[in-house]
Amino acid sequence: MLISENVKSFIERGSLVRRMFEEAIKLKAMHGADAVFDFSLGNPDVRPPAAFKKAVLDMMNDDSTSLHGYMPNAGFVDVREKVAQYLNKTLCKNLSKPVGPEHLIMTVGAAGGINSFLKAILDPGDNVMVLAPFFMEYVFYAENHAAKVNIAQTDRNFKPDLDSIADKLNDRTRAVIVNSPNNPTGVIYTKEDLDGLGKVLEAKSKQFGRPIFLISDEPYRKIVFGGAVVPSVFESYTYSVLVNSFSKDVSIAGERIGYVCVSPEIPNSEDLMQAAILANRILGFVSAPALMQRVVPYLLEESVDVSIYERRMNILIKALSEIGYDLVKPQGTFYLFPKSPIPDDLAFIKLLTNELILAVPGSGFARPGYFRLSICMDEKKVARSVDGFEKALKKAKSLV
Ligand SMILES: Cc1ncc(COP(=O)(O)O)c(C=O)c1O
Repeated sequence: MLISENVKSFIERGSLVRRMFEEAIKLKAMHGADAVFDFSLGNPDVRPPAAFKKAVLDMMNDDSTSLHGYMPNAGFVDVREKVAQYLNKTLCKNLSKPVGPEHLIMTVGAAGGINSFLKAILDPGDNVMVLAPFFMEYVFYAENHAAKVNIAQTDRNFKPDLDSIADKLNDRTRAVIVNSPNNPTGVIYTKEDLDGLGKVLEAKSKQFGRPIFLISDEPYRKIVFGGAVVPSVFESYTYSVLVNSFSKDVSIAGERIGYVCVSPEIPNSEDLMQAAILANRILGFVSAPALMQRVVPYLLEESVDVSIYERRMNILIKALSEIGYDLVKPQGTFYLFPKSPIPDDLAFIKLLTNELILAVPGSGFARPGYFRLSICMDEKKVARSVDGFEKALKKAKSLV
């Protein structure tokens, strides 16, 4: 065999999403792209803000030779200074110490950031806790560093279940990854949710004699509806790490830019930062893309037109609820995670596919019995899909 057993198992476990991807290609070839309602992929389709294009053009007109070269593996210092200033007036404004460039690493998106940070803290056999339903790539990221993922389920409203988390933390748990606004549920954790989690982590860190990190993965931070607020994780727990990305907030997922910020309140974080910066280099990222780093200061206050996602979301929430689907209303993201009308979510996905609707089964997020819809499609098409959802529900009901 040409590939490792390890990667072979990755491929097998990644097959649910791949199957949906292949199904989409097949159906579009048969029926035409317009007839197929592809709710499977989370690929932002709303235009980046005008500030992005202007910043890129300005950079390209700058002839200085230093623009495209190597830089410190953590990224340009002046860019990290700008990010620190932004954080000090937003997420870090109530902390006892300010964020500085020494707490920041510019990364190849959130994915690159999580990988670099995990490499810095994990030894083989360590555990990383995730709260289901969760973004499945976390399993691959943890296993990249020979660690194991430890899954705690959330409650019926997809909020952290503190008893179950406390029960499952162990002396090998090095980090808990949370993601709010959440993929796949769209749920936002409140300050109370994060404070509760912080208390559990504090107690368990004390019990096990070493700190457990709280990694807050926040690529959807600015995609929120009805003025919803996403609290700062830094205010709930000392050993917090923010992972941010411009992939979704400003629709530049292919440009691969984000950052990691460790809490300035973590004592003696110099070694931790050195380790994460080295990891950024030796994982082969070396550094985040130079041009995109230079654009970041122009994007810190920007976001896509979130009202576009909100309108689509409202159309689908209203229609699906009226038809009889059971769902928790998302407060942000472009995902919806309704309950499957039959326990077998894979079987229900087939009924949806018969109506040319592509969705991802909840099993793909470690929460069987649900399905995820990614609303990266225009409003009119979202409205046209409702008929198919109704037919699939009727068929499902006739089966029970
Ligand atoms: C929850 C979550 N985290 C991380 C990522 C990866 O984001 P990036 O493109 O910034 O690497 C995604 C992408 O879909 C995501 O949904």
